[in-house]
Amino acid sequence: MLLLAMFGSPRKDGNTDLMMESFLEGALSAADIELQKIYIRDLKISGCQACGYCDEHGVCVQQDDMQKVYPFFDTAERIVISSPIFFYGLSGQTKLLVDRSQAPYMRKYKRKAEGQAPFSPTDRKGFFLCAGATRGKRLFDCPVLTVRYFFYAIDVAYAGEVCFREIDEKGAIRRHPTGLEECKQAGAAFVSNEV
Ligand SMILES: Cc1cc2nc3c(=O)[nH]c(=O)nc-3n(C[C@H](O)[C@H](O)[C@H](O)COP(=O)(O)O)c2cc1C
Repeated sequence: MLLLAMFGSPRKDGNTDLMMESFLEGALSAADIELQKIYIRDLKISGCQACGYCDEHGVCVQQDDMQKVYPFFDTAERIVISSPIFFYGLSGQTKLLVDRSQAPYMRKYKRKAEGQAPFSPTDRKGFFLCAGATRGKRLFDCPVLTVRYFFYAIDVAYAGEVCFREIDEKGAIRRHPTGLEECKQAGAAFVSNEV
């Protein structure tokens, strides 16, 4: 099973990186996984230009690092994406990648109209990991909605999220009594079809 893990924080070894590593540890212990990690912070990804090229052609005209990511959207059976909360949303780096899923979204409709399967594996699932500094009741509303719709765009069923409030300085998640263990268990369940 190909598991695509996209790390969405600009802060290397920060809280959501640690959450992702625990999630992956759980996943690798529970199933036979081919793992593909993508550190979004290391990629040069431009914003969607809304040029309309993908409406017609089903692919993005921009030749940047997103072209390395697109093939995994087609083939991954499981996708996990992590991001810190930035201004009640995803990190900007992660949001640029999400916006660029407009091209596979358009291609999905083109292929369906032509009677073809839009993506090769079926039964695809996605998961979201997030951390924020404050305690607001609605802290995760916006990024969860964004990630849900991102997965919908690429025909991936939203399987759930693990999000932690009041996690701020680098490494703070290590001091949460259950934080990393919850991520590990979620990773194992995610690849075992328990979620
Ligand atoms: C630019 C920026 C904006 C942020 N905005 C919020 C916010 O709106 N709400 C919040 O609770 N935390 C906010 N935070 C705090 C981060 O979400 C928090 O430090 C998180 O643990 C960082 O995760 P990371 O180490 O994986 O990057 C912000 C941090 C930065 C740098």
